[in-house]
Amino acid sequence: MRLAVFGGSRGTGLHLIEKALAEGHEITALARHPDDLRKRFPDIQVIQGDVFNIEDTRVTVKGSEAVISTLGFVGRLRKTTIYSEGVLNIARVIPELGPSRLIVLAASQGIDPHPDFPWYASIMMKLLIKPMFGFAYRDMARMTDLLSRSDIDWTLVGVPMLTNSSKGGHYRNSIGKPLHHAFRISRADVAGYLLSIIEDKATFRKWTEVAW
Ligand SMILES: NC(=O)c1ccc[n+]([C@@H]2O[C@H](COP(=O)([O-])OP(=O)(O)OC[C@H]3O[C@@H](n4cnc5c(N)ncnc54)[C@H](OP(=O)(O)O)[C@@H]3O)[C@@H](O)[C@H]2O)c1
Repeated sequence: MRLAVFGGSRGTGLHLIEKALAEGHEITALARHPDDLRKRFPDIQVIQGDVFNIEDTRVTVKGSEAVISTLGFVGRLRKTTIYSEGVLNIARVIPELGPSRLIVLAASQGIDPHPDFPWYASIMMKLLIKPMFGFAYRDMARMTDLLSRSDIDWTLVGVPMLTNSSKGGHYRNSIGKPLHHAFRISRADVAGYLLSIIEDKATFRKWTEVAW
């Protein structure tokens, strides 16, 4: 399949490209600084650009059959519109270019504890995650609202803390409900999950969760 990848220059995105190539997919990736990606993966097409630039985004999505975003933000900035404006730029060009499938990596759950959350997760959310990352959760909520008003076959993938561990291959996932005892997962396993749901209609227009 021809995949467009956003956020492929670091972290989970690097694992995603590596696994996607091993599975035989063709990749076009957007990168602000493309040289490293070009060196590392000579067989992919790398577009130099920024997701906040709609034309760069359009060129990257053009010709793809599905789009995967592992876009992220730099934590110390304490503000971001990478989801509500960056991912939404992707959603804007998708209808005019053909693919209808968009998978977006985000963070586990919303800022408000889910009613099914175990008590300790609610406390952690209130005391730790909310004060530190509330700005990002609010931006994800804006993205979710905007995506749900589109006709795209989107899936939002919520993850807990990401690790660079090589352990893995065994993870749990859920569709539309929280995962209990979900504290960590490796970037490599998330990449595997993102690829595994490309054609899984049960995940279309849903939040999913994945964790060890
Ligand atoms: N780290 C965690 O524990 C954790 C927990 C929960 C959820 N998440 C979420 O998981 C996702 C991936 O995290 P990660 O740590 O694997 O990756 P990451 O290191 O945050 O990488 C983010 C990627 O987005 C790209 N990017 C950012 N702004 C861009 C822009 N304006 N235009 C084009 N590309 C842009 C970066 O490119 P550059 O190289 O150019 O900066 C990089 O490739 C993020 O959405 C993050 O919020 C992470």
